[in-house]
Amino acid sequence: MSPAIQPSEFRRRRAALMNMMSAGAIAVIPAAGVRVRNRDTNYVFRQDSDFYYLTGYTEPDAVLVLAPGRDHGEVILFCRERHARSELYEGERLGPDRAAQVLGLDDAFPVNDIEDILPGMLEGRERIYITLGEYHEFDNKLMHWVSDIRARESGGAIPPGEFVALKHLLHEQRLLKSAAEIRVMREAARITCQAHERAMVHCRPGMTETQLEAEIIHEFMINGARTPAYPSIVGGGANACVLHYIENKDVLRKGDLVLIDAGCEYEHYASDVTRTFPVAGKFTRNQRALYELVLEANEQAITACRPGVVFTEPHEIALRIMVQGLLDLQLLAGDFDEIIATESYRSLCPHNTSHWLGMDVHDVGDYRVEGASRELEPGMLLTIEPGIYIPRHSSTEHLPASWRGMGIRIEDDVLITRTGAEVLTAAAVKSVAGIEALMAAGPGG
Ligand code: GLY
Ligand code: MN
Ligand code: MN
Repeated sequence: MSPAIQPSEFRRRRAALMNMMSAGAIAVIPAAGVRVRNRDTNYVFRQDSDFYYLTGYTEPDAVLVLAPGRDHGEVILFCRERHARSELYEGERLGPDRAAQVLGLDDAFPVNDIEDILPGMLEGRERIYITLGEYHEFDNKLMHWVSDIRARESGGAIPPGEFVALKHLLHEQRLLKSAAEIRVMREAARITCQAHERAMVHCRPGMTETQLEAEIIHEFMINGARTPAYPSIVGGGANACVLHYIENKDVLRKGDLVLIDAGCEYEHYASDVTRTFPVAGKFTRNQRALYELVLEANEQAITACRPGVVFTEPHEIALRIMVQGLLDLQLLAGDFDEIIATESYRSLCPHNTSHWLGMDVHDVGDYRVEGASRELEPGMLLTIEPGIYIPRHSSTEHLPASWRGMGIRIEDDVLITRTGAEVLTAAAVKSVAGIEALMAAGPGG
């Protein structure tokens, strides 16, 4: 059975949010809009994550309203009406007549009537929760409606007094994944692991980064994940040192490593995995030394993941392993503590080790609580992705040529459980022996 999120869970999410909202508040949450790609061609539509999290509704041009205590219904959707001509081109719309029942809402209205209906719902509410700053056009409309109420204040109208960012409530909820969300994210991870292994098996010197990306996308799509969660990074040789390299256009060369950072989106949830491997299937001595260092950092950081450990702890562990290893390999020089204190490691280890993962690849949720790094809790999902990069910039001119032009990152998705952690992406091989064996067995081997 597909592990999709069920309507009862969307209902629970709305109820939990309304419970957290203060008395007299209302939440107004717009859907994403369609965006033009060029002329009359649009980008493939992707629903806004907050909106989807609360509705499961995948059409554009909609607004969800949560009005706790409202006599005529607390959960209201404004959405597109049915329209035969549009449906001929774009497919079936749910329409307001069916939306309430299908999505388990109290009421639904045509979005074209929002100007006539929503201002009345805002009147008398003390506080409006909104996804402030993301949809400027909609924010402006909302301000305008509130101003209209304010203009009638002398006649007895009661305008809302405050706008409050919804994220403080909703994003804390999204940070802790439910059992159903974890099932979906396990599936996203499973598909992504298969895709990385497919890329290893099919990789050959002489093919382009685009062609290798095609192997990844193929595996996503045939497994029911239509799109990547973010643009796939396929960087051979020095291209791997560009952290978000997405041109993916160069030819892969025999003596190089290739770094692939790619994850599918499945049922609106992301996976985010990086594997780095030799284009021709065998690590050189230097590649292997640096790879095993990053792998050690990845594995030790993962071992540290459990409830009660602070978010920055896995990063500190990974960093210390990498700095010591770089000193041992004479790729960094100086005093260990001073390198850590002055952050001079940043020329080779420029990024942090973790971020939250969920519906968005860099998912929502605060990283700090009351000024301190927050403790990990069961249900949180984070990446562990240490990396070392030796670009061919002037900054590495002093290093031997055999080390320059390689970038290595190893990224896994880690769920915090009650007793420790589960690596959702453990199925994608990452040991040197494992990668070499897989590649030797494939058509490129
Ligand atoms: N793919 C972006 C990241 O790893 O954070
Ligand atoms: Mn990534
Ligand atoms: Mn990541």
